[in-house]
Amino acid sequence: MAEARRIDGKAVAAGIIDRVKAATTALTADGGPQPGLAVVIVGADPASQVYVGSKEKMARECGFHSVKHELSAETSEADLLAVVERLNADPAIHGILVQLPLPRQIDEARVIEAIDPDKDVDGFNLINVGRLATGALDKAFVPCTPAGSMILIRGALGDDLSGLNAVVVGRSNIVGKPMAQLLLAANATVTIAHSRTKDLAAVCRNADILVAAVGRAEMLTGDYVKEGAVVIDVGINRVPAPEKGEGKSRLVGDVDYASAAARAAAITPVPGGVGPMTIALLMANTLTSACRAAG
Ligand code: GUN
Repeated sequence: MAEARRIDGKAVAAGIIDRVKAATTALTADGGPQPGLAVVIVGADPASQVYVGSKEKMARECGFHSVKHELSAETSEADLLAVVERLNADPAIHGILVQLPLPRQIDEARVIEAIDPDKDVDGFNLINVGRLATGALDKAFVPCTPAGSMILIRGALGDDLSGLNAVVVGRSNIVGKPMAQLLLAANATVTIAHSRTKDLAAVCRNADILVAAVGRAEMLTGDYVKEGAVVIDVGINRVPAPEKGEGKSRLVGDVDYASAAARAAAITPVPGGVGPMTIALLMANTLTSACRAAG
C-alpha cells in the first residue's frame, strides 16, 4: 500500500483561527463583548509554561482580551480558588483555563469544580463532562484535544462514522474518555484500551480509527495499525536527539510515524498534527462562550 496521507493539523487549525478572528471582529462590531480568556499557571514547569504562553499569545492574535495569572509553585489551594472565584465573577472573562498538572498541595478536582461551567472552556468541569456523556453537545464545552482530533477524523472520513471500529488507547479524563464519547456520538463502535489491555496490538489492529493518547514515545508501531486505518497521534513526548548535537532533543508522538504510515491511509504527524488543533479549539470555545454571554 502507498504511504499514508499526512494530515496537516497546522493548516486545518490555521483555517479555524481565521474564522475565529473574523467572527470576533463581527461580534465586537455588532456591539457584542470582546471575548476574554484567562489562563492560570501554578509553578514553573517548563512544558506548561510553553503551552500557556502559546495560548495567551494566540488569544491576543484572535483579538481577544487575554490575561495570564502566574502563581508560585507554593500557592495554596485557597489562594488558587480565590483567583478562580474572581475570574468567575469578572464579566470581561468568558473562558478560564487552569493549566494542569497542579502542584501536589492542590486538589485538582476541587479547582476544576470551582470553575463556572459556562466559562469552563477546557470542558473538564463535571457539568460539561455530563453534558458530553449525555449527548447534550450543543450546551457542552468539549475538551479541546478530543474536539480537535474529531475535526481531523471527520476531515479524513466524513461526518458519520457508522460501522467503523474506533480504538482509543488511553483513558485520561482530558483525552481518552471524552474522545471515546465523541466517537460514540458519531456512531463509531468504540473500544477504550489502556495499559492493562491484553494483546494491545491485536486490539489496535481492529481499528479503522486509531487514537493514541498513552504518553509513551513511539509506542504504537506499524504492528498496531490496520491497513487503511486513520491514525490520530495525540502524544507529545520529548526524547533525546544526540544526532542533533550534545544535549539536544526532539518531539515525537505516541506512534512510530514511519512504520505506522506504511500501513495507514492517513496519519497525523508530531509536531503539526493534533497540537495546533488543541489551541484552535480553545479559541473557538472561548468565542462560543462570549457569544452565549451576548445572548
Ligand atoms: N495540560 C495538558 N493539557 C491540558 C489542557 O488541555 N488543558 C489544561 N488546562 N491543562 C492541560
